Amino acid sequence: MPLVEIAAMSFGRFGIGRLDGKAVLTPATAPGDLVEVQIVGQHKDYLEALPIRVVRGSIHRRAAPCPYLPRCGGCDWQHIEYDAQVRLKARLVADELSRALNISLDQTPLVERAPLEFGYRARLRLQVGPGAEVGFYQPGTQDVVAVGSCLVAAPRIQLEFARLAASDFGRGCREMELAADAARQVLTLWLRRAPGRREVLMAHRLLDRCDGLSGVILRAAEAREVVGDPTVAVELEPGLAVEVDADCFSQVNHAQNRRLVALVMELARVEPKTSLLDLYCGAGNFALCAARRGAEVVGVDADRWAVACAERNLQRLSLEGARFLAMQADTAIQFLRRAAYRPLAVILDPPRAGAADVIDQLAELRAERVIYVSCSLPALARDLKRLSARCYRVEQVRALDFFPNTHHVEVIARAVLT
Ligand SMILES: C[S@@+](CC[C@H](N)C(=O)[O-])C[C@H]1O[C@@H](n2cnc3c(N)ncnc32)[C@H](O)[C@@H]1O
Repeated sequence: MPLVEIAAMSFGRFGIGRLDGKAVLTPATAPGDLVEVQIVGQHKDYLEALPIRVVRGSIHRRAAPCPYLPRCGGCDWQHIEYDAQVRLKARLVADELSRALNISLDQTPLVERAPLEFGYRARLRLQVGPGAEVGFYQPGTQDVVAVGSCLVAAPRIQLEFARLAASDFGRGCREMELAADAARQVLTLWLRRAPGRREVLMAHRLLDRCDGLSGVILRAAEAREVVGDPTVAVELEPGLAVEVDADCFSQVNHAQNRRLVALVMELARVEPKTSLLDLYCGAGNFALCAARRGAEVVGVDADRWAVACAERNLQRLSLEGARFLAMQADTAIQFLRRAAYRPLAVILDPPRAGAADVIDQLAELRAERVIYVSCSLPALARDLKRLSARCYRVEQVRALDFFPNTHHVEVIARAVLT
């Protein structure tokens, strides 16, 4: 079997080495590893391999503390020491953005480490297997690996609630999510069919049986039923906590989100009267903090439940100066352009696929500065490249490690109109 020396990590679960001049992608490896591999896939530009034996382990390698690895696909970098994870993420961000934007980025202060390497996730998305087992997908497959615990989940998240729900709802439930704050836990069940009376009754029974479970939300596409209290509290910054419905997007890492909010406010230079467009605003993570600073905010999100949360929190916190639109981002920009709206700053925080469909139109708004927040490095590089071709210059890049033990990283870029 061939021997491969791993030289770098991909933005994913693979270590990258070379064999006969061709890149070889091998999961569960670390830079510095010398591994015996079995080639399992041949592509035009690269080979795909499985690690058979680590002949010489990297100095960055450690025994992953999670007993479900390597079968569980949840934490693809847990076998790498945390300090090295942060350095490798900095290198990935610097390489990818330098290449795409033709700029030079210093790797050293680029990625801020997370205060907690484990126990940081306030929300946990779980898959449900054919035998009602609850867990995560095995890497590269849709086979569910049942887990009894999860090291990256906040300790107050009780997987037991998810297991009970899976045995009640069985194959009717395809996915679930547990969300927690200091006092409450809410379970969202993504069902295969719109919930009826039977499912609502089952949710009531679940709530009665689970001490500590405060709400159950049943979802199937647009259908939504709520039993109990659907909200969890998220502190966005000192003195500002919002109540967010657990089935709406909220950042999973609350400690790092407070850093993110502070950084975004600083990079966007939010001041009283700053006119600010918050695209993909979710439940108002940035918009509410900007409104608190006296900015004039328009928030846009396609999820009407998230927009309803943002509006409720605006009222509850007696804040003024923000309006929210439940719209697709591209439709909203067209609408705002027709209304001759010209914000001074734009915050852009799209889902993983990025914002390719709105970049050109967004550039037409000619905002002085654009703050792009992204958890997908390839999508960010693609969109910033496009923005750079439309009279913007990327002048600052920062990153926060929101997701220790995985390859993911939250990157924040500031672009200015030239
Ligand atoms: C990564 S989240 C960011 C939310 C928020 N900025 C935060 O920090 O909590 C992305 C958001 O984009 C919204 N979204 C997804 N596709 C969209 C689209 N085409 N138009 C508008 N919003 C969209 C989702 O509902 C979600 O709230």
